[in-house]
Amino acid sequence: MAIRIITTESEAATQAVGGALAPLVAPGDVLVLSGDLGAGKTQLTKGLARGLGVAEPVTSPTFNLLLVHEGSIPLYHFDLYRLETAAQLDDLDYWGTLEADGVSVVEWGDRFAEAVPADCVVVRIQITGDDTRALEVEARGARGESLASRWVDACEALPGVRVESEAS
Ligand SMILES: Nc1ncnc2c1ncn2[C@@H]1O[C@H](COP(=O)(O)OP(=O)(O)OP(=O)(O)O)[C@@H](O)[C@H]1O
Ligand SMILES: [Mg+2]
Repeated sequence: MAIRIITTESEAATQAVGGALAPLVAPGDVLVLSGDLGAGKTQLTKGLARGLGVAEPVTSPTFNLLLVHEGSIPLYHFDLYRLETAAQLDDLDYWGTLEADGVSVVEWGDRFAEAVPADCVVVRIQITGDDTRALEVEARGARGESLASRWVDACEALPGVRVESEAS
């Protein structure tokens, strides 16, 4: 799959993009999110969480590094913003968790190249206006390709969301 761009015109639209991923994810799937402070990484995760039936509030796990939410499958929500070295990933049991029984979302996952698994979906979020965002979706590995292409297709029908291709 070429890199695809999903644009959203509101916070709700970005949440809906996250929600569209919920019916598609299986244990072991990983979403790596990058983008500046306030880009919308947590909003995307909130939508995914809601789609998984998570009842509790979802916030950036900046100080915790990992928050676990029970849904139809567990949601492992990492935030590597405050991680100082890649070696600390081991202390978190990062790799064990990614391969466990749930779906993992990693905010600031691009801070350490080691943190990006071979098979995953990478989303880089750019702030394009007060209420608009551009989500660049790149698939890694066979499972990442399959997941990303079904996800992007599902997003085409969402209000406030547009899907564009980018030559690559
Ligand atoms: N189209 C949009 N999509 C997502 N968020 C938007 C959009 N337009 C405006 N916003 C606002 O941008 C902010 C996104 O915050 P969010 O916590 O999701 O960012 P983040 O990328 O997780 O940042 P951090 O790195 O601090 O955790 C919210 O205040 C939200 O209301
Ligand atoms: Mg966040």
